[in-house]
Amino acid sequence: MTRVRFLDTGGGLSAEVEAAPGARLLDVAQAAGQPLEGTCEGQMACSTCHVIVDPADFARLPPASEMEEDLLDLAAHATRTSRLACQIMLAPDLATLTVRMPGTARDMTRR
Ligand code: FES
Repeated sequence: MTRVRFLDTGGGLSAEVEAAPGARLLDVAQAAGQPLEGTCEGQMACSTCHVIVDPADFARLPPASEMEEDLLDLAAHATRTSRLACQIMLAPDLATLTVRMPGTARDMTRR
């Protein structure tokens, strides 16, 4: 199990949940009531699942694909440790993961 901590845009604790190995972070976040739309349902077309990963945890995640990086380049409020929650599967050996909600999300499916 992974203990996932969700922080609001200001860095305050919003929710803390236990998630099963293999769970997709976007699904865990939505089940915990986090404001991630996930409009394209993981097709890497919207960036409304953008989260900012705690720097210590960021290094423990598998790196983003080139396509994910490209979409993050267009996401509002992206930082060095930004990721798309639809692309993060919780590994069995990941004990904890802390992510923060960005300021706003930009839906790339709406132009
Ligand atoms: Fe659209 Fe993640 S849900 S990019």
